Amino acid sequence: MIATGIQTAAYLFASILFILSLGGLSSQASAKRGVIFGIVGMAIAILSTVLGAEVQGHAYIIIALALASVIGIIVARKVEMTSMPQLVAILHSFVGLAAVLVGFGSYLDPNTHSLPGSEHTIHLVEVFIGVFIGAITFTGSIIAWGKLEGRITSKALAYKGRHAVNIILVLISVYLGIRFGMAPGTDALTELIAMTAIASFIGVMLVMAIGGADMPVVVSMLNSYSGWAAAAAGFMLGNDLLIITGALVGSSGAILSIIMCEAMNRSFLSVIFGGFGNATTSSKAMEGEVTSANHAEVAQMLQDAKSVVIVPGYGMAVAKAQYPIYEMVQMLKAEGKDVRFGIHPVAGRLPGHMNVLLAEASVPYDIVLEMDEINPDLPQTDVVMVIGANDIVNPAALEDEGSPIYGMPVIEVWNAKKVIVMKRSMAAGYAGIENPLFYKENTDMLYGDAKESVNSLVSELRSL
Ligand code: TAP
Repeated sequence: MIATGIQTAAYLFASILFILSLGGLSSQASAKRGVIFGIVGMAIAILSTVLGAEVQGHAYIIIALALASVIGIIVARKVEMTSMPQLVAILHSFVGLAAVLVGFGSYLDPNTHSLPGSEHTIHLVEVFIGVFIGAITFTGSIIAWGKLEGRITSKALAYKGRHAVNIILVLISVYLGIRFGMAPGTDALTELIAMTAIASFIGVMLVMAIGGADMPVVVSMLNSYSGWAAAAAGFMLGNDLLIITGALVGSSGAILSIIMCEAMNRSFLSVIFGGFGNATTSSKAMEGEVTSANHAEVAQMLQDAKSVVIVPGYGMAVAKAQYPIYEMVQMLKAEGKDVRFGIHPVAGRLPGHMNVLLAEASVPYDIVLEMDEINPDLPQTDVVMVIGANDIVNPAALEDEGSPIYGMPVIEVWNAKKVIVMKRSMAAGYAGIENPLFYKENTDMLYGDAKESVNSLVSELRSL
């Protein structure tokens, strides 16, 4: 057992480590350090909580911790990089569920009902709001998991009048909240259960109404909700560390959502209120002809080029092509060519997806450029290789006002002298829309799995 003073000091120290952790995660070079700060902070947080004076039943806690750690290690080891967003989404649902359970537990705890008047009312407000946010986070995250996993259609389920329905449900919840706050003892359990059911339904409908292309923002938004749910649980339990951690997660998730909306040139509200990502075709008919090249021809183009830009997307992650890509990059650089990567902020399926994969293959950071840095250089670039990317290089985002991705900034690869698009077929990307890039005169398709194609290019380059 540790004294309350030591626990407070440990909490303060853990909070500082969490802030340092977030700071570290802001750049690739310091990300590892950031993760270590986070791990140490969390270890201190758990230990100082479990050893707290008011905690009982240590045997159960140790069993739960051991079981959860084993499950966590197995899941984290097994999960593919491509399934990381799903894992994040399902973890958010746990936070939501925890907030709901803490809320119910706290409401049913006889000690909390002996609190003096105003303190008791504040406690009830904390419980009600915590359970409300927790339930939305819980069901919303499960739907986000289902959509990302492909178990639920990624199309937006939008029905007429859904905003009105949501507003009515929120008003009913407010009414239940007033009754809940005024009822003595645990008399308002029915109101709490009814509100939980309503909030769970709102969570389902909110995320069902959002189309596939907006899922990254939704996952980040749910991350933010899970933070606020944790902060609410912190208020209910009177745990300062949980309040601080929840506020950190809540605000960083909200900031990330806004940054991502800016990257897609969409307003946060239009994303949250959904309905985007339903179109299956562009509003414009495709003009031009699709041409393709074989591996030997593309290897020759690379051999003749002075500058090459590689734009990777989700297909690179699926094919795990980052290793042979870096091998190819090293070969081209050894020939004195200028080879760089251009990364779109929402390439792949989670923020920083491409950066993580390239770092995994030991690609140096200084040749990995952001979209805004690479776009001005593209007109002077000899060859752009689009590897398993689609939506993020779609000119319709700039040219076709009727396109669902109109207004989203993209990597303007078509400005380069030659564009090679490596993918398996003419299939659409995540937003489900056609890509006029494939029909442009300076574009050639190189069909096939990205990893196999790059391996073939490496052997062709060797034989040149
Ligand atoms: P997408 O537009 O999804 O295009 C990926 C392309 O890769 C597909 O057209 C597919 O074509 C190809 N592909 C798949 N497997 C392949 C393989 N084994 N080898 C070669 N090619 C393969 O991806 P993107 O360009 O990276 O754009 C990302 C999209 O996802 C955006 O719409 C974005 O909004 C959305 N999104 C992003 C995130 C975040 S935060 N990054 C999260 C969720 C959703 P084939 O089938 O013809 O091969």
